[in-house]
Amino acid sequence: MQPTTQILPPDPDGLRATAGLLREGALVAFPTETVYGLGADARNNNAVAGIFAAKDRPQFNPLIVHLADADLAQEYVEWNDHAALLAAAFWPGPLSLVLPLQANHGLSTLVTAGLETVALRVPAQPTARALLGAFAGPVAAPSANPSGRISPTTAAHVSAGLNGRIAAILDDGACDVGLESTIIGLTDATPTLLRAGGLPGEAIEAALGHPLALPKGDTITAPGQMTSHYAPHAAVRLNVTTPLAADLYLGFGKMTCTLNLSPTGNLREAAANLFDHLHQLDAQNRPIAVAPIPNHGLGRAINDRLHRAAAPR
Ligand code: TXA
Ligand code: MG
Repeated sequence: MQPTTQILPPDPDGLRATAGLLREGALVAFPTETVYGLGADARNNNAVAGIFAAKDRPQFNPLIVHLADADLAQEYVEWNDHAALLAAAFWPGPLSLVLPLQANHGLSTLVTAGLETVALRVPAQPTARALLGAFAGPVAAPSANPSGRISPTTAAHVSAGLNGRIAAILDDGACDVGLESTIIGLTDATPTLLRAGGLPGEAIEAALGHPLALPKGDTITAPGQMTSHYAPHAAVRLNVTTPLAADLYLGFGKMTCTLNLSPTGNLREAAANLFDHLHQLDAQNRPIAVAPIPNHGLGRAINDRLHRAAAPR
């Protein structure tokens, strides 16, 4: 644990310093288009163990490995036709692919939680790409928040949760997409939607030319997909059309409310605002009532995160 957390700018000096810290095995938060990630060298067991300690992650859930470009994926996993199709269509971007590990992959077993598969992602955010290029290696990164709390979409959110626990935060402003990546499992004949996220399932199905499979049963197919996650401190109620006097009201579309995810009813804008608005409302320590959000496109991932925020804990 570090006593102070440096805030570094997304310029050449800041990138060099951040890449240098990763090389030393330190933990650094960095922006992606989805949320801020808490990065460590994915080949370094001690560094990866540090991620779990800094977040108080209760179990060793597998982490997503971030790469500078799609070609590098084939150094770690058994590539297949679905992977080639989806990588060509959506990488770099808010998509993670779960594939079988290759022999001699060199990744820390803590990254994969001992599974025979690994989740890979090539982010599009320019500072993330520049950092991955400068580091020239695989970076394991969960969202940069204490375990179970709201995901961070600004450096200030990261700092509020992890200040003093990590070496540095590379600050490049707010995340564009604002929801974690969509996770697709590619270990079976039909690609499986393991987590709804920043890339709508409909877009993936259009590229594949057929529907995605859903995880079998309602067990935890994506390890770490605990029900209570993204949880504000205050109670959260969903699909509220008439809030109570004591409530903070999180709106969507044209309405009177405390904060509005998108006054024009735009799901992209709502996704980008979701975690920031939850952070803001959570700071006021009153019950949070949320207006109905349409359940298509990015709305599916928004509703998934809201259901987890509202789940009993
Ligand atoms: O957008 C994102 O995905 C962000 C940014 C930083 O890239 N990262 C992120 O990581 O959301 P995290 O740790 O909060 O979520 C990673 C999830 C795990 O909870 C787990 O469900 C899934 O990825 N996962 C990782 N490896 C897996 C595997 N081998 N099989 C199935 N699911 C896996
Ligand atoms: Mg997370």
